Amino acid sequence: MQPKGLSITQMYTVKFNFEQSGLEPVTLEGIKPGYSLLEVALMNDIELHHNCGGVCACSTCHLYVNKGEGSLEELSDREEDFIDRAVNPRLNSRLGCQCLLLEGSGAVEVTLPDQTQFLGE
Ligand code: FES
Repeated sequence: MQPKGLSITQMYTVKFNFEQSGLEPVTLEGIKPGYSLLEVALMNDIELHHNCGGVCACSTCHLYVNKGEGSLEELSDREEDFIDRAVNPRLNSRLGCQCLLLEGSGAVEVTLPDQTQFLGE
């Protein structure tokens, strides 16, 4: 809830696309900075695996960032190592738990790999 009189400029729009067939894209508005894309997904009932609990120790929260990369916490070496172990890594691969929305506002768009393909890495 935003107190009256304060500007609401620090908000993101986050769009989730899905590789899994049958799932339609979901656009979420009014997302505050400071959350990871994994948290944003889970808070909105979007399934995204997170076997390590969001501490950059697996690769099951793997996703592709299509837009808004600059609004996210930078890729770390450790994250890159885990991305290498993900299924079908691409140049725009990230780990959802490491993609913290930075202070600011804007639009971020991601694609989630098929969540039925995971085999417990
Ligand atoms: S949940 Fe394990 S690396 Fe993100």
